[in-house]
Amino acid sequence: MRRAAHEHYRAIVTGALGGAIGIVLMSAASAADIELGRYLSSECTTCHGAAKADSAIPVIHGLDQAHFIEVLKAYRSGSLPNPVMQNIAGRLHDDDIAALAAYFAAARPQ
Ligand code: HEC
Repeated sequence: MRRAAHEHYRAIVTGALGGAIGIVLMSAASAADIELGRYLSSECTTCHGAAKADSAIPVIHGLDQAHFIEVLKAYRSGSLPNPVMQNIAGRLHDDDIAALAAYFAAARPQ
């Protein structure tokens, strides 16, 4: 009983430390990402700005990052059919897509 409790405690401490290190690394990476994303986003907001977003052009501000990445990669590979977005996504590298996803997830329409 005491032994089990001890090991449980150790697992919590190890997990918490791992998590703390992960958060530090992650926030360093995402600050740089968001800056790159902001820079790249000017091309997107021509169409995806709040004023122009309508039923044909979806709002992408606040979109879930995982969804955003998945959709842009699908346009890039051609598995999603829209020619405009295929063309745009075709010019983006994985890093650009990740940066845009990080930026738009936190961004509000202006
Ligand atoms: C010329 C106008 C135009 C530009 C510029 C543009 N988009 Fe789009 N985007 C669209 C249209 C139209 C759609 C809807 C396509 C469809 O119905 O499949 C779309 C769809 C999307 C979607 C899917 C949203 C969802 O909820 O499924 C994402 C994500 C997206 N665009 C991101 C971007 C990013 C990032 C950029 C800049 C690198 C960008 N777009 C630039 C017109 C544009």
